[in-house]
Amino acid sequence: MITVIVGTNAHDSATKIIADIYIDKLKSLGVKHQLLQLKDMPTDILASDMYFNRKPSFVAFSEKYLEPTEKYIIVIPEYNGGIPGIFKLMMDASDIAKCWWGKKACLTGVAAGRSGNLRGLDTLTNYLNYLKVDVLKNKIPISRVHTLIEDGQLIDKDTIDILHVQLDDFLSF
Ligand SMILES: Cc1cc2nc3c(=O)[nH]c(=O)nc-3n(C[C@H](O)[C@H](O)[C@H](O)COP(=O)(O)O)c2cc1C
Repeated sequence: MITVIVGTNAHDSATKIIADIYIDKLKSLGVKHQLLQLKDMPTDILASDMYFNRKPSFVAFSEKYLEPTEKYIIVIPEYNGGIPGIFKLMMDASDIAKCWWGKKACLTGVAAGRSGNLRGLDTLTNYLNYLKVDVLKNKIPISRVHTLIEDGQLIDKDTIDILHVQLDDFLSF
């Protein structure tokens, strides 16, 4: 199972529009997959005992989206020069052995600005490697994302093409 993660809980996010490119291609290839948007993460997650006494809502979330995943495609927006806190919160709340150890990941950064979340891609690679996740070397930073989108769709052919090549790499990774 491949899980495509929209790495923010923001509504109407550009990150979701990029994630849709992977979803469409996985669908057309008939590869088993699911979409995880962090806006669907349980909101009662936050409590001081969350690390060792997971709420039933988070356990159900984890059993649906994280534990059955073999490969993650993580589309991660740039928030204040790095990854959104909500994504790190999900990692910290999770059972790392069940959710991360021995899995694989493919990363794409999304930013309104120039850097395409390059710093966040490096940071997230380090976090994932620490959690025993192998990360595909082909990581794509998407800069000035709003100039590539029209009517809620990614319209830049070059970007679509490199995302497709990256996905081909990841399927054989
Ligand atoms: C809290 C917050 C912080 C942000 N910080 C940055 C930033 O440091 N650099 C940047 O290029 N864009 C920044 N942005 C803009 C996002 O990159 C932009 O919203 C982009 O569309 C990807 O995020 P989205 O999926 O929320 O739309 C920030 C957006 C938010 C909501």
